[in-house]
Amino acid sequence: MQDNFKDKASTWDKGSPMLDGAKTIADAIESRIQLDASMSIMDFGTGTGLLGFLILKKVKSVLGVDTSASMLKKLQEKNTSDFTIDTLNVDITKTPISTTFDGIISSMTLHHIEDLKHFFKSIYENLNEGGFIAIADLEKEDGTFHKDNTGVFHFGFDEKILCAIVKSTGFKNVVYENINTINKPQRDYGVFLLSAKR
Ligand SMILES: C[S@@+](CC[C@H](N)C(=O)[O-])C[C@H]1O[C@@H](n2cnc3c(N)ncnc32)[C@H](O)[C@@H]1O
Repeated sequence: MQDNFKDKASTWDKGSPMLDGAKTIADAIESRIQLDASMSIMDFGTGTGLLGFLILKKVKSVLGVDTSASMLKKLQEKNTSDFTIDTLNVDITKTPISTTFDGIISSMTLHHIEDLKHFFKSIYENLNEGGFIAIADLEKEDGTFHKDNTGVFHFGFDEKILCAIVKSTGFKNVVYENINTINKPQRDYGVFLLSAKR
C-alpha cells in the first residue's frame, strides 16, 4: 500500500498549525454534533490521531483508519493503557470493512480520495441508522496549498458540487460550513466542515 506520509510522520505533530487546526475542527464537530460516551467513531485518515484523540475524550471508542503505517506508528506511540485509539492500516476505499459506527470523522484527508461518489457510498454502509459524518478539508483552492501535490486528487472542494455528491449517495441534512482559515505566505485557505446524517 502506498505510504505518501512516510517522510512527514516523524515531524507531523511538531507544528502548532497542525495541532491548532485539529483543535478547531474538534471544537466545530462538538458544537454541531451531540457526542456521547456510548458512541463508536471512525476517524478516516487519522494520521497521528490529532483529531481522533480530541474526540476520544467525548465518546466510547475511536478506530483510526489510515493507509500510512508510519503515521499510525506515531499514533500508537501516544496510546496509553486507558486512552487508546485502535488502528486499522487498510485502504477501505479499496477493501471496504463491514463494521458500523455511530459517526465517521475526518480531517484533511478527503482531497486524497479520487472517487468521491464511491467513497461516500461506501462509508454510508459503515454508519448505523441515524449516524453522522463530519468531514473537514480545504475549500476550493488553486493547487498552491501543498508544496508537492503527489497523492492530491482535489484542489479543495466546491460547496455545491460536494454537497450534491454527498446527497446523491443517500445522506440527509447535508451542511457545508466554513470553520477556519489557514494563513500561508502566498495566500489564505478556507477550511470547511461537512456534516450529514444517515
Ligand atoms: C493530511 S493528512 C491528515 C492526518 C490527520 N487527519 C490530521 O488532521 O492530522 C492525510 C492522511 O490521510 C491518509 N490517507 C490518504 N489516503 C487515504 C486512504 N485512502 N485511506 C485512509 N487514509 C488515507 C494519509 O496517509 C494521511 O495520514
